[in-house]
Amino acid sequence: MSLSDWQEWVVETHAQLVEPLEEWLFERGALAVSLEDNADEPLLEPGPGETPMWQNVQVTALFAGDVDLAPIKAALPQPLLAPDSKSAISAFDDRDWERVCMDDFAPLQMGPRLWICPSWIPPVDKAAVNVMLDPGLAFGTGTHATTAMCLGALDEMIEGGERIIDFGCGSGILAIAALKLGASSALGVDNDPQAITASRDNAQRNAIGADRFEVVLPDDDQLADRCASADITVANILAGPLIELADRLIGLTLPGGRLLLTGVLEAQAPQLIERYREVGLRTSNSRDGWILLVGQKPH
Ligand SMILES: C[S@@+](CC[C@H](N)C(=O)[O-])C[C@H]1O[C@@H](n2cnc3c(N)ncnc32)[C@H](O)[C@@H]1O
Repeated sequence: MSLSDWQEWVVETHAQLVEPLEEWLFERGALAVSLEDNADEPLLEPGPGETPMWQNVQVTALFAGDVDLAPIKAALPQPLLAPDSKSAISAFDDRDWERVCMDDFAPLQMGPRLWICPSWIPPVDKAAVNVMLDPGLAFGTGTHATTAMCLGALDEMIEGGERIIDFGCGSGILAIAALKLGASSALGVDNDPQAITASRDNAQRNAIGADRFEVVLPDDDQLADRCASADITVANILAGPLIELADRLIGLTLPGGRLLLTGVLEAQAPQLIERYREVGLRTSNSRDGWILLVGQKPH
């Protein structure tokens, strides 16, 4: 029998048992342990420093292919599991994993002009505006409804020469798309250093120099200089941070400039509309329960 490269063992448990179960699995040779919601319980907007946990958790432990899991499985203490916990072991090869990743992220058309292409796949339509993207460890491949709605709106809105602020830039996907559609410059802002790295790498991948696309942390001095400078401010964050950032995002936008806000669920629209009343937000699109809000700062 030929061995696979890896084995994955999935078990179900409760929030308070996750830590001892993880410890037990690592002591028995697990190389990595990942956690997923086992009951469709969303965890939205944790506060800074909070690590929320679902009540019912699916724990997946990764082992090397040559580990004999049968005796380890037999020795797993029942008190570490949820009652009636299901348990499943599957084996897979490195090659399978690469294929799964590549199948998940294919070239996507986001608007009449715009395509997002994984950096390892040649563009489908060479004449289109193609953003070549590798998200790295940051959010933003275009597959999420919020990103897709922003990209569609930017494709419609950009005529050429606009200055963009992309607050919560993640992989840089929105700013880079805006620049390739004809915007003159963009400033990306993110509080995650991995997003800063991914945005800069993606800019380089698309031959966009630092003179057109700068990427900074939210406390960077440059943001003060950008007061009332953006023709379009786009922010795909979440309702909580968008409410906290309202004065800042409105302040960064030029009189007459537009704001595109998403990461907001339909039920959260009234709060956002009230907090941003000065720019007259309206829902311009919705997808999978998420909405895109668009407003304009008065002249
Ligand atoms: C949902 S992702 C959006 C990424 C990308 N713009 C897109 O549309 O796909 C949100 C990004 O906002 C960043 N973020 C969250 N809160 C932030 C804050 N208060 N200030 C700056 N960035 C923030 C996160 O690190 C993350 O990269």
